[in-house]
Amino acid sequence: MNLKGKTALVTGSTQGIGLAIAQALARQGADIALHGLCTVQEGEEQAARLSQDWQVRVHFVPADLSNAAEASALVGQVTAQLGGLDILVNNAGIQHTAPVESFPLEKWDAIQAINLRAPFLLTQAAVPELRRRGWGRIVNVASVHGLVGSVHKAAYVAAKHGLVGLTKVVALETATDRITVNAICPGWTETPLIEPQIQERAASHGGDRDAGVRDLLAAKQPNLTLLPTALIGEVVAFLCSEAASGITGASLPVDGGWTAQ
Ligand SMILES: NC(=O)c1ccc[n+]([C@@H]2O[C@H](COP(=O)([O-])OP(=O)(O)OC[C@H]3O[C@@H](n4cnc5c(N)ncnc54)[C@H](O)[C@@H]3O)[C@@H](O)[C@H]2O)c1
Repeated sequence: MNLKGKTALVTGSTQGIGLAIAQALARQGADIALHGLCTVQEGEEQAARLSQDWQVRVHFVPADLSNAAEASALVGQVTAQLGGLDILVNNAGIQHTAPVESFPLEKWDAIQAINLRAPFLLTQAAVPELRRRGWGRIVNVASVHGLVGSVHKAAYVAAKHGLVGLTKVVALETATDRITVNAICPGWTETPLIEPQIQERAASHGGDRDAGVRDLLAAKQPNLTLLPTALIGEVVAFLCSEAASGITGASLPVDGGWTAQ
């Protein structure tokens, strides 16, 4: 695997799964556009660390993906700064849990905008650039919730199922262009995104976080282990490699057996 000379934009990559993906791609030699909602100073410090660790070019590009204009402009910004784009990883995402009858409309709208509309807008901007370069990779970070449902996650499950559908359509539209488009579908992964759900379960064990984690895993994830973010990063790096050039339109579970049940 070697991505030297390639440029990758990873949305939501200043922490969590996105940062692990940026690290895995940088380790393979790709130049990185690091993106997230943190301050410009934090983003630039993070970019400098990544650049130093792997001796690749790393630029921080801020954009609020709940804003359609900012999402649409992001690929152009990256192309201008890094001289092109070969790999787009749509990773940024948010979560909110509530029963469907009391699900707040503004949370529904925010989840659709960040988890589904932004990947569509970024893809729309990226595809002409990938075609121009004659090679490309798009990896959408969906979720097990792109494949199956869970209670209290109406907006998230709808958006992630949508992202799996978008992946298939764009894979078909680019199938003869040396571009692959795939989704990965992680199960419970150790990041801030799932902390409120851990704390909710911990509360019924007198605040014992480990017991909360055990509960969460026992309900859904057969390997009974929170996935380390680095594992997700390595799967994305594989999908970006030449070895994976025959895989397109797939939605790959990385879920400790969750969707085998
Ligand atoms: N953690 C899990 O168990 C898990 C499981 C399956 C899928 N996922 C998915 O993985 C992806 C990454 O999640 P994570 O767990 O690393 O979460 P996280 O909260 O650690 O990171 C989310 C990232 O998205 C960015 N982001 C959020 N709102 C944004 C906005 N309006 N504009 C721009 N950026 C924004 C944040 O800045 C952050 O960098 C998400 O799409 C999530 O749905 C996570």
